[in-house]
Amino acid sequence: VTASVNPGGDVAVLVAAAGSGLRLGPGPPKALRLLRGEPLLVHAVRRLLGCPEVGCLVVAAPPGHEEWVRDLVGPGVTVVSGGAHRRASVAAALAAVPERFGIVLVHDAARALTPPAQVAAVAAAVRAGNDAVIPVLPVVDTMTQVGPSGEVLGTLDRSGLRAVQTPQGFRRAVLTAAHAAAHTAAAGPAATDDAGLVERLGVRVYTVPGSELALKITTPLDLAAAELLLGA
Ligand code: CTP
Ligand code: MG
Repeated sequence: VTASVNPGGDVAVLVAAAGSGLRLGPGPPKALRLLRGEPLLVHAVRRLLGCPEVGCLVVAAPPGHEEWVRDLVGPGVTVVSGGAHRRASVAAALAAVPERFGIVLVHDAARALTPPAQVAAVAAAVRAGNDAVIPVLPVVDTMTQVGPSGEVLGTLDRSGLRAVQTPQGFRRAVLTAAHAAAHTAAAGPAATDDAGLVERLGVRVYTVPGSELALKITTPLDLAAAELLLGA
């Protein structure tokens, strides 16, 4: 990536890119898989650097691939080694953010086609005074809760449900506190994102509209869909 961060930007973005992509099938780590000839991570980073508010970008790379990732993203982007699970990768990236950044966004490399406007909307909502902000979309399928033997326990009211995307934006102190608490917390249901950790602190999380382009590339079908979206 030839672009770099904007020295005047007040937002730091952490990119979780250390996953292996098991659901995508055999191959290199997911962030390094090619989409129209370029790694997913390159697509994601280029879009993030297209946002003038981004003054710091830290990528959590798959362990063992740090040098390759450094070459891909260029000198304006910080690269750290990711951890064994997503939360550890985000914590490692957060530790590399200089003190002066008061707003931190956490993004999935797997959401490689997320429009810069979505990044800007999340950052703006944090700047406007919200401690935590997530982009969301209405869910299209009916959602039902299922017990251990496969029996339906109860169907949820879809109108109140949303699918949660990234980037998720936070006042830096809130994100730091959430990760510190998660590190020491007793075992409970694992939070799958950062807003889930922040909720446990009792902090109110605010929503902004997400986008279909911000889909998380998880399965081979998603990768094929992303190829089509890029061509469109
Ligand atoms: N991630 C990470 N560190 C990990 C695991 C996941 O930084 N130890 C990142 C992934 O790189 C991805 C994001 O978290 O950008 C969302 O995770 P997911 O879509 O589950 O990616 P993978 O874990 O790579 O995929 P899978 O679960 O299919 O193995
Ligand atoms: Mg995973």
